[in-house]
Amino acid sequence: MKKAVIIGATSGIGKELAKVLSQHGYAIGITGRRTHLLEELHAELSPQSSLQQIDVTDTSTAIEGLKSLIAKMGGVDLVVISAGTGFIDNELPWCKEKETIDVNVLGFAAMANVAYHHFVQQGSGHLVGISSIAAIRGGDAPAYNASKAFVSSYLQGLRYKVSRMSLPITVTEIQPGFVGTAMAKGEGLFWVTSPQKAALQIYEAIRKRKKHVYITRRWGLIAWALRFMPDFIYNKL
Ligand SMILES: NC(=O)c1ccc[n+]([C@@H]2O[C@H](COP(=O)([O-])OP(=O)(O)OC[C@H]3O[C@@H](n4cnc5c(N)ncnc54)[C@H](OP(=O)(O)O)[C@@H]3O)[C@@H](O)[C@H]2O)c1
Repeated sequence: MKKAVIIGATSGIGKELAKVLSQHGYAIGITGRRTHLLEELHAELSPQSSLQQIDVTDTSTAIEGLKSLIAKMGGVDLVVISAGTGFIDNELPWCKEKETIDVNVLGFAAMANVAYHHFVQQGSGHLVGISSIAAIRGGDAPAYNASKAFVSSYLQGLRYKVSRMSLPITVTEIQPGFVGTAMAKGEGLFWVTSPQKAALQIYEAIRKRKKHVYITRRWGLIAWALRFMPDFIYNKL
């Protein structure tokens, strides 16, 4: 039986992906801060699944928590880091900027670091990180955009490192556009996909061991536009 851990499985994309992986025969280790939601989801998953409360911002405890979950599961083949947060507030309150950086940068790197070392020691594995289209260019939520640029670049760095070891370790970067979860904030949302559809597309990317996917695929067009649009147009959007 394949084994996967999902960091941030209490809601949204992580929760739906846990269900899809469970339906495809995975034993899942689910994590997040909200224990009642972990318990609810745990009851829906395969009996071999486990849960562990982890707050990724408390990095030392989170690292120990993830290590102990992996040990309890007898090793894992797949780690998905879906935990993330973001805010749109024109006042840019420091507490919100900091929280975004704590979760999306420090928390993400701490969890990716544990997964990296586990897979290198095991000699195989698959790490999936959820970045965002927002990684491509700074915008309305500066800390969020910058934090997702960190996620994308960190995953790229880990992929570079494992490719030089010639180990069968895959690193997949997921770049969603808008997905209809609590995270999808702000006005003028478009091409919003459901978390269920996002989870199915992420599962396909895992199955095919892709390096990178846009969720949904047409967000590749927006990514292209964001990369090449001149500032005098972009800054008016
Ligand atoms: N929705 C979108 O439009 C969209 C677009 C692009 C990228 N993304 C990315 O997709 C990922 C999943 O987001 P979502 O849309 O599914 O939103 P969501 O429903 O709000 O899920 C966020 C998940 O992150 C977890 N989390 C947040 N802070 C945490 C912390 N300090 N420690 C541990 N877990 C924490 C939450 O669990 P607890 O609260 O229980 O801890 C929850 O399970 C995020 O990385 C997000 O940036 C989303």
